[in-house]
Amino acid sequence: MADETKPDSAYLDRLLQAFEGEIKGETYFADLAPYFDEPGADGKLALLSQLERRTAETLRPLIERHGLPVRDEATLRPQTAPMVVDHGAESWIGYMARMIKDFSPYVDEFQALEMKGPTKDRPALARLARHEVCIIEFAKAELAGDPDSTAPIREYLEAEEV
Ligand SMILES: [Fe+2]
Repeated sequence: MADETKPDSAYLDRLLQAFEGEIKGETYFADLAPYFDEPGADGKLALLSQLERRTAETLRPLIERHGLPVRDEATLRPQTAPMVVDHGAESWIGYMARMIKDFSPYVDEFQALEMKGPTKDRPALARLARHEVCIIEFAKAELAGDPDSTAPIREYLEAEEV
């Protein structure tokens, strides 16, 4: 049985990486807006950006509880610039399709992290996995032309903190 007081270093490393990834994700989605002419894309990207921030804040108590050395946000944010530039020639629909492909592995990874985490961490880790599901559901709805494609993201943002 896992020691509830001392999670292993691989778990803690991944948790820190996930937290910093959400901080970067907030900037990443916000900075993507100028790359897409698709009507409504800017508002959708803003919601994705909020989703990332919210997920980071859900993880923050775990980061603090385990005393993990988070890098300064000013250091993390510029790291997303190359990823943003990559989107220069991509269509919105192409981006949605790629999002489904790129984000799907994180669902499994974060569900595994949830199983591995101390009991106290698990509700937040479940939310971490859930936010990836919401992104994928959103992208699938976009591909299907669903006018209410952002519903999964809005529901996530409206849910109470764990
Ligand atoms: Fe994220």
